[in-house]
Amino acid sequence: MNTNETEALRQKEIMERLKVRISDISKELGRPLTYCSICFGCQMNAKDSEKLEGILETIGYVRTDSEDCDFLIMNTCTVRENANLRVYGRLGQLKKYKKNNPHMMIALCGCMMQESLVVEKIKESYRHVDIIFGTHNVFKLAELIETKLDTKGMVIDIWEGTSEIVEDLPSERKYDFKCGVNIMFGCNNFCTYCIVPYVRGRERSRRPEDIIKEIKELVADGVVEIMLLGQNVNSYGKNLEPKITFAQLLTQVEQIEGLKRIRFMTSHPKDLSDELIEVMAKSKKICRHLHLPFQAGSSRVLKDMNRCYTKEQYLELVDKIRTAMPDISLTTDIIVGFPTETEEDFKETLDVVRRVRYDSAFTFIYSKRTGTPAANMEYVSTDEEIKERFDKLLSEVQSIAKETCGRYEGTTQEVLVEGVNEQDPSLVTGRLSNNLLVHFPGTSDMIGRFMDVKLTEAKGFYYLGETV
Ligand code: SAH
Ligand code: SF4
Ligand code: F3S
Repeated sequence: MNTNETEALRQKEIMERLKVRISDISKELGRPLTYCSICFGCQMNAKDSEKLEGILETIGYVRTDSEDCDFLIMNTCTVRENANLRVYGRLGQLKKYKKNNPHMMIALCGCMMQESLVVEKIKESYRHVDIIFGTHNVFKLAELIETKLDTKGMVIDIWEGTSEIVEDLPSERKYDFKCGVNIMFGCNNFCTYCIVPYVRGRERSRRPEDIIKEIKELVADGVVEIMLLGQNVNSYGKNLEPKITFAQLLTQVEQIEGLKRIRFMTSHPKDLSDELIEVMAKSKKICRHLHLPFQAGSSRVLKDMNRCYTKEQYLELVDKIRTAMPDISLTTDIIVGFPTETEEDFKETLDVVRRVRYDSAFTFIYSKRTGTPAANMEYVSTDEEIKERFDKLLSEVQSIAKETCGRYEGTTQEVLVEGVNEQDPSLVTGRLSNNLLVHFPGTSDMIGRFMDVKLTEAKGFYYLGETV
């Protein structure tokens, strides 16, 4: 047994012990103990939260959406300043619940906790927090709870980094039919604006056999669609022995019987290979969607961002992808107001948006992150100028998306039904291969099934349809 297997076993033993203790407390109170899980940030965090929830369910906590609960866990994000502010706001509100419930525990984890200044601030100003841990030791939640039950004061356990990947612990799935699967952790790219490499550590790939085993188990359990997750999936496998490429991994995943759809996030343009385009174009299972963040249109700004490609290289890549897969849906991330961005540079961003015509784009105003190289750069534009650019970009992105998203109106497409429509329960909502949504008359027994749906009306960012 290797050290990671021993560690997984150790955690499972702790969970067994905790099960008994939680059940005793619950008997004493005459009610089940509840947990509430709050998650900010990206898909990677969402996946971590599923793991945390898996541990909490295993030891006997019952899920609730109410923050007035016995165990509240908040998985934080720090990619932009406003993500941080939301956490502090929420924390303040929790004090009142804790006052009324002596059994309540509050745990904080995730990317924000990897910043020492944040932890200092919480230690000083938010004494009602019980447990703090980071991104590298999510698998240890049970152990931290046990420590908290046995000691007074805040339990803090933050790891600077890790080379460990602990496999085979419980995970609570949000959907029965689709699931995210980590293929790698961390990031080595150090884009100059980005804090992720500092809070998620260096790139580590999971072994292909572990990934395949997990997906096979998921499929046996009813999952038909998976999303392979990593900050930069295109550099998967570079540090594995023997080496393997992301395209080769996809080819292996594709062979899993019963698996119907494969998605992945996120692709860095600098590492997107011809091999990957070829594998995607040939594949029956890989969805016709690629999220390909370009961040900025000006090659000079891209250089300052350390993105390692020019505007021309990005546009050539898009051409290559579209030639191989004319029906692909492209989406992207864009930052406005990077410190060195001038009005001329911004025009280059608009130019890329107009040329590529994305199905959708996430647009962000640059947010200064302490500790990153860009935090020391001088701003060449004012806040007003940046806000104006942002509004202009958003309206351009939206009007283009409205046109491009409608291009399948009148066609019949295969959709995976995800749920009953929240506004109108006579409708169900399904997802197309290209990631767009369609609402059509249906019933809850269709959830998790594939249906052929005629897209009768394009509504901008979604369709209305009917089964055929
Ligand atoms: N690994 C992914 C993205 C992770 S962060 C990738 O490289 O594509 C998600 C998005 O947040 C980024 O694509 C970027 O557009 C945005 N982002 C990251 N840091 C930011 C910052 N300091 N200010 C504003 N947006 C930022
Ligand atoms: Fe951040 Fe760049 Fe890594 Fe993406 S690739 S997580 S933007 S450093
Ligand atoms: Fe946020 Fe961490 Fe993801 S900073 S975007 S949750 S990797």
